[in-house]
Amino acid sequence: MTKLASAPWRRFLGAGLLALTPFLTSAALAQSDAPAPEAGTGRIAKQAGTAAHDMVAAANPLAAQAGREILGAGGSAVDAAIAVQLVLNLVEPQSSGIGGGAFLLYWDKTKLITLDGRETAPAAAKPERFLGPDGKPMKFYDAVVGGRSVGVPGTLRLLEAAHKRWGKLSWPQVIAPAIRLAEDGFTISPRLNGLLGQEKFLQNDPIARGYFYQTDGTPKPAGAVLRNPAFARTLRDIAEKGADVFYSGDIAADIVASVTRHATNPGDMTLEDLKSYKVEEREPVCGSYRTYRICGMGPPSSGGIAVQQIMSVLETQDMAAMTLGPEAVHWMAEAGRLAFADRALYLGDPAFVNVPVRGLVDPGYLKSRAAIVNPDASMGRATAGDPPFQKTEFRFAPSDGIEFGTSHISVVDRDGNAVSMTTTIEDGFGARIMTRSGFLLNNELTDFNFAPVEEDKPVANRVEPGKRPRSSMAPTVVLDGGGKLYAVLGSPGGSQIIPYVVKSLVGILDWKLDPQTAVDLPNFGSRNGPTEIEAGTEAETWKAALEAKGHEVTVIEMNSGIQVIVVGPGGLTGGADSRREGVAIGN
Ligand code: DON
Repeated sequence: MTKLASAPWRRFLGAGLLALTPFLTSAALAQSDAPAPEAGTGRIAKQAGTAAHDMVAAANPLAAQAGREILGAGGSAVDAAIAVQLVLNLVEPQSSGIGGGAFLLYWDKTKLITLDGRETAPAAAKPERFLGPDGKPMKFYDAVVGGRSVGVPGTLRLLEAAHKRWGKLSWPQVIAPAIRLAEDGFTISPRLNGLLGQEKFLQNDPIARGYFYQTDGTPKPAGAVLRNPAFARTLRDIAEKGADVFYSGDIAADIVASVTRHATNPGDMTLEDLKSYKVEEREPVCGSYRTYRICGMGPPSSGGIAVQQIMSVLETQDMAAMTLGPEAVHWMAEAGRLAFADRALYLGDPAFVNVPVRGLVDPGYLKSRAAIVNPDASMGRATAGDPPFQKTEFRFAPSDGIEFGTSHISVVDRDGNAVSMTTTIEDGFGARIMTRSGFLLNNELTDFNFAPVEEDKPVANRVEPGKRPRSSMAPTVVLDGGGKLYAVLGSPGGSQIIPYVVKSLVGILDWKLDPQTAVDLPNFGSRNGPTEIEAGTEAETWKAALEAKGHEVTVIEMNSGIQVIVVGPGGLTGGADSRREGVAIGN
């Protein structure tokens, strides 16, 4: 059993039980309020979870418990990840679900396979999609809210593809926990309640308003029981008929109607777009870091390449000796600048853009990039490099925000297989469209650059029909020197995902911290703008030292949601970011 010693978790885990999955004989899923943040810090104190055989780390306790129960019933890492994702759709609806997209890394004991379930632009999408009548880029939320931003969802096809290859339990079995929670109800967590309270657009959607809000317009309170019979019906349909019912059956018709009949900002998705959606198997992006091998997701995500590039620059330094402080932040921020400069020029959907992946992670190229870093002074803004093996005809075009529409799931099963999956509907509550089928639709298409052309040259990440928007999601798997699984991790956070994952890797691999301590370290980094440090943390005290090196420093909220599992000789140790409600638990 997992050890979770901190008081809030004991309180949570000791709460009332609700029988959810008849086929599960071990402890039923606990139903309770997620613990509230500690006063004054916004953080939820947690200790590293430990388990002998298997483990799940996810952003909500009910979701993590569904995964643990599936593992306990003999399910594989993929079985557990499916159960976790479908429960997250229900209990953390702001962040992910079958209305969105995801990337999944699967470690099968000897090799890594990466699956791309990213949303695609409809066939009718044009490069000018996010330009206003004046030809200028639209304001972000004018683009986000409504059908225009909705990409063809990929998550369910991804789950189905992974289940066909690596599932051990039946498809209906892994869907069952989410069906029961949707029918019997779950308690609204403090985080969901808080986000509903801040939310400006969701109430304009009649279905979402009725589901999430009270008649006086205030959000349903934390602790209230929420049932979602429409979603339960959808899941029952999917359990019975497979993902086809979503991509070409009744649910497809519902999605198209929700997108095309939006009252103020209709989109152009068709049944044919849904029917032709395909999951793509991609080449993993791997590279060495000291004695380890770090692997991640290739294009259309920039995450794997950027993490690799930053780690390669850090490898030139003795990070273990440097320890946490302004000098480490200097190196991570400068490495981040270099990586984000390349990302802005070169990264896009590989079906449309010739991304020079090999050159971007070439050790010789990365040595030359590391040599640009001055240990004593910030470079300010980095320019993109000239990686070997290819030339680009594109123009540099930065963009990106930080939102809360994403979640990360890490799973290791008792056979030593693992899943690292980052899953998203992009902005919090996505496009603010709730289908009649009981789930929210993504706004992933706003991950494209809004301006298709810069200085008369096309932008790599411009909108095109059938294209997948560039992502920053960085689901990561680390192997040890013997090629064995060592760690599984990832985070939400928009393009901040990249520095969050880098910080966690350095914390675990160089500073030898337990995963919980590593994820809870202050966040910091640079996306080739200012050097960003996390408000309300020790990092604020490093500001003056960084400014003395010429850094322009901004102190901001950096709301990561890192979920890590580390495989050790004595079992598994997990960490779930104290900035969110998650938990790492296992058997
Ligand atoms: O794919 C991406 O990079 C973004 N759509 C992810 C958004 C995100 O992480 C929001 N986070 N909390």
